[in-house]
Formats: sequence, structure tokens, C-alpha cells
Amino acid sequence: MTRHIVSVIGGKDGQAVRSYRSINPARVEQVVAEVGLADAETFAGACRVAAEAQREWAKVPAPVRGRVIASIGRLVEENAETLARLVTEEIGKPYAEALGEVREIVDTCDFFLGEGRRLYGQTVPSEMPDKSLFTFRVPVGVAAIVTAGNFPVAVPSWYLVPALLCGNAVVWKPAEYAAASAHALYRLFAAAGLPDGVLNIVFADGEATFAGLDLALGAGSVQKVGFTGSSAVGRKIGELCGRHLQAPCLELGGKNPMVIMPDADLDLAVEGALFAGFGTAGQRCTSLGTVIVHESIHDEFVARYTAAVHGSVIGDPAGDVICGPLLDHKFAERFEDYLGWVQPHHRVVTGATGRISESSPRGEFTGEGGLYYHPVVVDGVRPDDQIFLEETFGPIVGVTTFQTLDEAIGLANKPGYGLSSSIYTNDPHAAFRFREAVSAGMLSVNNSTSGAEAHLPFGGNGKSGNGSRQSGVWVLDQFTRWQAMNWDYSGRLQKAQMDVAEIVPDRDFRL
Ligand code: UN1
Repeated sequence: MTRHIVSVIGGKDGQAVRSYRSINPARVEQVVAEVGLADAETFAGACRVAAEAQREWAKVPAPVRGRVIASIGRLVEENAETLARLVTEEIGKPYAEALGEVREIVDTCDFFLGEGRRLYGQTVPSEMPDKSLFTFRVPVGVAAIVTAGNFPVAVPSWYLVPALLCGNAVVWKPAEYAAASAHALYRLFAAAGLPDGVLNIVFADGEATFAGLDLALGAGSVQKVGFTGSSAVGRKIGELCGRHLQAPCLELGGKNPMVIMPDADLDLAVEGALFAGFGTAGQRCTSLGTVIVHESIHDEFVARYTAAVHGSVIGDPAGDVICGPLLDHKFAERFEDYLGWVQPHHRVVTGATGRISESSPRGEFTGEGGLYYHPVVVDGVRPDDQIFLEETFGPIVGVTTFQTLDEAIGLANKPGYGLSSSIYTNDPHAAFRFREAVSAGMLSVNNSTSGAEAHLPFGGNGKSGNGSRQSGVWVLDQFTRWQAMNWDYSGRLQKAQMDVAEIVPDRDFRL
């Protein structure tokens, strides 16, 4: 069934200047939605509408806003299967993972519904009598949120839920290839009773979005930009925001390392590397990039990993599979480029590479006209290889070796990203040494690089972001600004740093 969807701005359908087809990547002939894309002016107009609506929304008591978040969580829970099926249909995410993704929205709502009754400020002692100091969290205003489609509903909820709870209005620009999933999530938010204009969804391509953001930032109708996507686009958005004296919240790519120490439980490590590398077809920002395995267990690891990859099912994401198709044509094309990074000194231990088809089947599976790719494990990767240094979004994992823990840490940090990381060991010294020296914002011990829980700080360093953190209490600093108030009720002007009582010590005192 083809849906027809357009932007929703101030509760009304928005203008579209052209049409985009969001397809089912498991059956590329099937159109999931015809999407009307807006231009830059429409995007900027949505920001103005949001600015208007935000003034009233900020006046709604935070506990009442928290109740709206509670309703969103319940509505998502009631519609979980339908939403997960749509995610599977539109981006090819295996159904079990899609359900997990929907669960992550509910978790996020569960966390923030109570924040409406906290959103604490502080009372702070003054240096003078009859004077009190306070801090308040103030909403930033309008948040423009631009999200990727690999997590078409969960990752947007990490922005939308806290932004709205804190009293901001939002203009959300989801990925075109995940538009139907995004539109469905928008409708669930709207059904919770958000006033028109508080949340707006704008479908637009990258160029129109960038130009629209520029207009809106120039007009002063956006106070916070949130972006999840590639490091290259994040850099441009960071530059744009910097020109407008704004610090965006950037959640970018990763080249996430997994270090396997000689004492590791190898079966556990293989299971973790399988899920981290090939779950979501390797298309999480937290997906595994390179396995850095101790040379003494390298051969054994590679043998078991190869067997595990061969034994895992790739196919229709509605079924019980580890890997469905790639998200969209654009991602499939890019993945083909990454396959071109495999060099003669590498050893592809998994066999065939490229698209699964009649002429290149995977066992019985011929790809059914979907964007399915052979999973690839590349052994013999060297630290100067492009495949070692750059993100390769898709089902491909590199393997390299080390001798000492410090060398492993050096390799883990070398690509200059810093999102997620993992170490397999039962030695607390190694685990904590890794924690203190790895440049990643997140690390797992004896666990996959992916699968962060929704109430821990999520974010990266280096090329993975600008140091911002999402989720839990930490994201509140993205969507509120601290305001400091002092109240002097002494009836006279008491000058800070000057009219301060001093208690004089006897500095010559000795025992
Ligand atoms: C992403 O790919 O942008 O930690 C987010 C994880 C998920 C979120 C991934 N909870 O793997």
C-alpha cells in the first residue's frame, strides 16, 4: 500500500515542491510512501510557526508536559507492533530489532515523564546576608532536529522527547528514505495532545534543509540544532551553527573498535562481534568497525567468527534473520564503494562479496530483488588502510592484531572517531586501563559495541561529534540553558566581592 505523506506544520499539511519515493529495500519495486518534499522557505516558515507555539508551550507547567510525554509512551506501546512492522517494511530492519527500537522510545518516555516533576534548579548560598541565589533551567526555544533513517524512530525520540519536556518547540526533518516511519511517529506524538505547532515535521532533501536552517538561524527562529548523521555533514552543520554562535548537538559516525584480549571468552566475543558487525546490517553508528585481536588467538578467533557469519541467516527482515537488506539505494551504492577499499594484502575470509543475486546467491537465498549484500570479514587489515581508518556503514568488519594492551589502545584510537568501543577480557586491570585510555564516549566490557541503553549518556568525541551527549539527565543541558538569579532583600546595594564580611585568621599561629 502506497501512502502519500507531506510535511505537517502548525497541525496543517505543508507545501511540497517535489516528490520522493520511499521504497521497501527488501523488495525495491514496492513503494512504501510517496513523500512530498518541501523547499528551504517552507522549512524556515515551520521554524517561525514553532517559535510562535513555543511561547505558550513553555508556560504549560513542566509536570503537565511530563504527562504528555507519558501519553506518548503509552501510545507508542499500544502501537508498537504496527510501528515496528512499518520500520521493517521501510528500512529493512529485522523485525525483532525494529521492536527493540520501538521499545527504546518507550524507555525514553518512561525516563522523561518523571523529569517533568524534577527539572531541578538550585538554591545557592550568597556571599552576603539577606541575599539569595538561584538557578533555573530555561528552554532554549525552537530545536531543529535532523535525523538519519537507520534508527528512524528511536533516535529521533532521544531529541524530541526531552526537547518537548523542557518546554521547547521542535521542527523535525527526518531522512527521506524513512519518511513513513517518521510520519507515523509524528502522528503518535500529535495524538498525545501536543498543541499545533509545538512539534512540526518537515520532509525535505539535504540541500533544502541546509538552506532552510541557514534562513531560520539568520532570522533567530532556531536556538538549537540537533543532527544525527555522517561526520562530513555534521562538520558543515557545525560550521553553519558556529557562524550563528550556536553549539549544535551532533551525533556522527564511528569506527568502533573491539579489542579481544588473550584471556577473553572467545565464544562470547564471537557472538558479540557477530551482532555488533552484522546486526542492523552493520548500519548502526555504533556498529563494529575493526576487531583488534591478540595475535595469540587470532587464528582461532577468525575461524570461529567466519563459521558464525556463515551460520547466520540473511533474508527477509520480517523473519528471524540477523541481517536484512541495506537501508536504501544510496546506502547500497556507498557500500559498493567501501568494498572497493579491499586491497590485495587483505584476506576476505567470508567468501563472496557484493550484492546477493541469482548469479551470486548465499546458499539458497538469491536476494529476492532486495538490497541484500554478502556479509564481509576482512582479515589482515593494517593501520594505514582506508578500511581501518574510515567508517564503512554496512555489513563489513576488519580484523587486525596486537601484542600489547597499549598497542591495542593505540589502534582503537587511531581512526580519530570516538563513539563506541568494546573490550573482551576478564582482567579488571585491562578493562579499566582500556576505559581510561580509549577515546570513545562509550565502552562495553564483554559486550557488543552497539546496544547502548536509553538512559546513559550517548555521544562521542573526535570525528564522532562535538562532545554533546544525548539521553538521560545529560541531554537536559542540550535543551535548556542555565539562568542564574540573585535576589537581594537587604534594602541596600551590597556589592559582590567588595561588601563581603571577612573573618580574619591569625596567620602567624603555630602549634
Ligand atoms: C545510531 O545508530 O544512531 O546503541 C544509534 C545502539 C542503539 C542506538 C544506535 N541503541 O546501538
